[in-house]
Amino acid sequence: MLGNKTVNAKNHLEIANVDVVDIAEKFGTPLYVFDEALIRASMRTYREAFTRHYTDFEVAYAGKAFLCSYMCQIVREENLWLDVVSGGEYYLAYTSDFPTERIIFHGNNKTEEERKLVLKEGVGRWVIDSEWELSCLLEEAKGASVTVPVLFRLTPGIDPHTHAYITTGKIDSKFGLSLLEGIAEKTIKKALDSSHLEVRGVHCHIGSQIDTLEPFLKAAEVMLRFMDDFRRKYGYTLVELDLGGGLGVPYLDQDQDRFPSIPTYVEAICKKVKEVCQELSYPLPRLIVEPGRSIVNLAGSTIYRVGTVKEVPGVRKYVAVDGGMTDNPRHILYGAKYQAWLGNRVKGDPLERVAVVGKCCESGDVLIPEIELPAPCPGDVLVVEGTGAYNHSMASNYNLIPRPGVIFLKDGKAELIVRPESFCDLVRRDIIPE
Ligand code: LLP
Repeated sequence: MLGNKTVNAKNHLEIANVDVVDIAEKFGTPLYVFDEALIRASMRTYREAFTRHYTDFEVAYAGKAFLCSYMCQIVREENLWLDVVSGGEYYLAYTSDFPTERIIFHGNNKTEEERKLVLKEGVGRWVIDSEWELSCLLEEAKGASVTVPVLFRLTPGIDPHTHAYITTGKIDSKFGLSLLEGIAEKTIKKALDSSHLEVRGVHCHIGSQIDTLEPFLKAAEVMLRFMDDFRRKYGYTLVELDLGGGLGVPYLDQDQDRFPSIPTYVEAICKKVKEVCQELSYPLPRLIVEPGRSIVNLAGSTIYRVGTVKEVPGVRKYVAVDGGMTDNPRHILYGAKYQAWLGNRVKGDPLERVAVVGKCCESGDVLIPEIELPAPCPGDVLVVEGTGAYNHSMASNYNLIPRPGVIFLKDGKAELIVRPESFCDLVRRDIIPE
């Protein structure tokens, strides 16, 4: 089992010492459930590891993994920065009273509306992703009479060997400024001439769910060599290096040892940065990382209720739950693997090999193509583990299925922090023209 889970005397699953059957009855299903202590612990692990190995650093939680008002509060309380990638995420943080000077604003195609909002309310770091964006920002920052602290996103040309859809730092990428033909350096140079931009440094994010350290270390080296070249050519020292997120996490028991731990990852990148800086006689930059998945995935599970159970003789047994690709599109998108337990009968015989599917009108609506469970039947509670990252944030209303609510477990108590959508919510935006 992943995270802080146990089986109680009733043979029920407990998450953070709370019985999932009670949760399902009290809050309904489907439901995202988070163990708050685990989220805070991973945030602290990041900060503590950096404190041991580096002086000047920031850890920015990547909100795209999972964000809501209460999460903003936790990020603030744990002294992290927050990485946002849209006007919507920025607005949520801003309206949750998250300090704007600790927000990093990303996006490969920031709209005018988004740029205006962020320019007006302020930002910690604005990450410029393209030449076009720089030209917009130069004009708009001047117009607003503000000075914006900026980083430049570069594509360092590193292949992190993860799923193609979540590979972002290769040469052929929609993100960032290419190092080819001097595009990145020319763009940064242009920004130096403006009194409305404060050029702080460079950023890269090579991909997500990465299971080895090597691509991170390669990326750090490429970025530092770029910074050094830039200093030699233009006499300007870029003082910040943001290495993005991407540390992978296990989704299955058998993968528990496959991924570097947070402290191992932090130590390795700090060591690499120090080595390369020493070799180049480059002053140690302020180091920033933007972890999302490794902070929040393990802490999250999704609780469903089993409905239809159907056997296709000699072929397969289908166990359908009351959610599916609408609350977890990761299997259909990336072939992601998950494990699950029956919350109301964790151990039991006989075990049956089944497919866990959702309720959407789509054959690909599969959560787990093959798993052994103790003879699931209608009414059982099914708990899918490791759904904390990129489930709530990527949920949809396909088939007009309302999105689940979110509860946080803390000190043996469950608090609703995002209410489940209702049918009313689903029709609220509709207009019939006269
Ligand atoms: N920083 C930047 C600029 C990013 O683009 C991302 C993720 C992160 C940080 C956080 O990466 P993490 O530590 O979570 O790996 N929907 C996909 C993941 C997409 C990741 C996009 N960028 C999934 O469900 O696997």
